[in-house]
Amino acid sequence: MHRLVARFPRPDPDPGRQGRSSLVGADVSGRLGRYTIGARCYDVVSGEWPVYRAGRRAGVEMLGLHPGDRVLDLGCGTGLNFALLEAAVGPTGTIVGVDLSAAMLAQADARKQRHGWANVSLVQADAGSGDLTGVLGAGSADAALFTYALSVIDDGVAAWLSALAATRAGGRVAVVDLALPAGGWAVLAPLARIACFTGGVDLDREPWRWVVRDTRDVEQRMLRAGHIQVAAGTVPART
Ligand SMILES: C[S@@+](CC[C@H](N)C(=O)[O-])C[C@H]1O[C@@H](n2cnc3c(N)ncnc32)[C@H](O)[C@@H]1O
Repeated sequence: MHRLVARFPRPDPDPGRQGRSSLVGADVSGRLGRYTIGARCYDVVSGEWPVYRAGRRAGVEMLGLHPGDRVLDLGCGTGLNFALLEAAVGPTGTIVGVDLSAAMLAQADARKQRHGWANVSLVQADAGSGDLTGVLGAGSADAALFTYALSVIDDGVAAWLSALAATRAGGRVAVVDLALPAGGWAVLAPLARIACFTGGVDLDREPWRWVVRDTRDVEQRMLRAGHIQVAAGTVPART
């Protein structure tokens, strides 16, 4: 696993120990802390099948990936997007998963090993650091995806701009994120609020709006009564 330790509080001197208890001390503060502590049970407690899988399915579909594409999964967590991305880019494609939490990446790495996905590479980095393009390469990706991550990453705006910079002109970027449910489903808003609070989601951020603002050929979907917001667009040519 590559490591870009940018704004990382305490670099781990032994990456081979990644995911084991010694790392827990490295990133337990702030929003990231809950992911370090909860990494092992994230897939079970995150409401994936009843609620959130629908969003990642839509986000990946709206990227319009082709076999052989190189796609960035930013704030990839435990790698819940990987199977969908694998199906889209195939064995000739590349998936680069980026996350700041070593514990979440350890789960992603276990998933990669279990499935034998040789074309998945994992990078421990702050997606909100301007250094990201230095590691991934400016304009080097065909697509970039954030699922339930842009409202959690401390400097979400910087992460979004990094994703745009790392994706080639004409490539696609997609954002899947959370809002409170609306209409008749607004009665579920307190539950959704608890889920968002637990995940450290900044509900005021509404990062899907950045897709509308900064890309073209935008497609938008609202799922689960608006609780899941999905937007994808094409990166414009750079002047
Ligand atoms: C709600 S989880 C979403 C994980 C995954 N994208 C998914 O759909 O299941 C948010 C993820 O963002 C990661 N994260 C938080 N701050 C980050 C940062 N500055 N850079 C990269 N990843 C970050 C967390 O470690 C966590 O894995």
